[in-house]
Amino acid sequence: MSITDLPKIELHMHLEGAAPPAFIRGLAAEKKADLSGIFDERGAYKYKDFWDFLRVYEAATSVLKTPQDYYRLTRAVLEESVASNVVYTESFLAPDFCGGGDVAAWADYLAAIKQAADEMEREAGIVMRAIPTCVRHFGPDQAKKTAQCAQETVGDFVTGFGMGGDEAMGKQGDFKYAFDMAREAGLRLTTHAGEWGGPESVRDAIRDLKVERIGHGVRAIEDLGLVDELAEAGVVLEVCPGSNVALGVYAKWSDHPIAKLRERGVKVTVSTDDPPFFHSTMRSEFDNLAETFGWEEADFVALNTTALDAAFCDNATREAVA
Ligand code: ADE
Ligand code: ZN
Repeated sequence: MSITDLPKIELHMHLEGAAPPAFIRGLAAEKKADLSGIFDERGAYKYKDFWDFLRVYEAATSVLKTPQDYYRLTRAVLEESVASNVVYTESFLAPDFCGGGDVAAWADYLAAIKQAADEMEREAGIVMRAIPTCVRHFGPDQAKKTAQCAQETVGDFVTGFGMGGDEAMGKQGDFKYAFDMAREAGLRLTTHAGEWGGPESVRDAIRDLKVERIGHGVRAIEDLGLVDELAEAGVVLEVCPGSNVALGVYAKWSDHPIAKLRERGVKVTVSTDDPPFFHSTMRSEFDNLAETFGWEEADFVALNTTALDAAFCDNATREAVA
């Protein structure tokens, strides 16, 4: 078996960010929305840098208007995951885009997403769990609304709470109230940190939001003392190397610190983030890691074990997936 055929555990993928461009173009045509400006001549998403990426992302998301649209999106995304032999996936869902933070509207969107996930589990064996996320540049008050959405729907499917968006806006600690609400509801926590912010953003996330996982976290490498603390505390990094290279956090794969972080004892896992935006899949992530760092099958099996141990699911699910 080749390395890319291995079963995979993915912990960090944004549902809207995983929308195939052709799917979004189809929805735009149905809804008579003009999205031509966000695609290049080959039909791929087009953006200049991270902040432009966020704009294009939100424009693409604007045609996802109904729970039925999200049902179709979820099926389309999970079909891509199955093609990479992903057997367990955690997907970030933004209540801000699913009803604007209104709990009743969110529950309708979530039911449609869960229906698609349940069908795909029956049809293709893939298990999905949902992590509602607030969007950092929408601010702390809106984040409280998303935490309330998460709190009201916590259960077997909704198992975590997180934050994405523009890491340059405000501080992690500004979102403490929302994260405290989520923790008290029994949700497990992760936040994007150390992608566009430096090591201090990772420190803030652990101290102020008390997260057990960090989305990206790679810029911790700029402070080796912090790297050792992460290793010691067993904080898990959801590393998305293809995303980091595509968005320019690192110029090329060989500059990426994932191997150094791992060698120094940090628990690293690998995910795609927003695969069609970065022309990536879980297969291509594995392939690039093998090629760049010489990782072999045993390394990838260990990577999957770390990811499954850190998954926001119960032990029965973990055992069923293993
Ligand atoms: N939302 C979707 N992708 C993201 C990323 N790479 N960083 C922050 N927020 C995001
Ligand atoms: Zn992300």
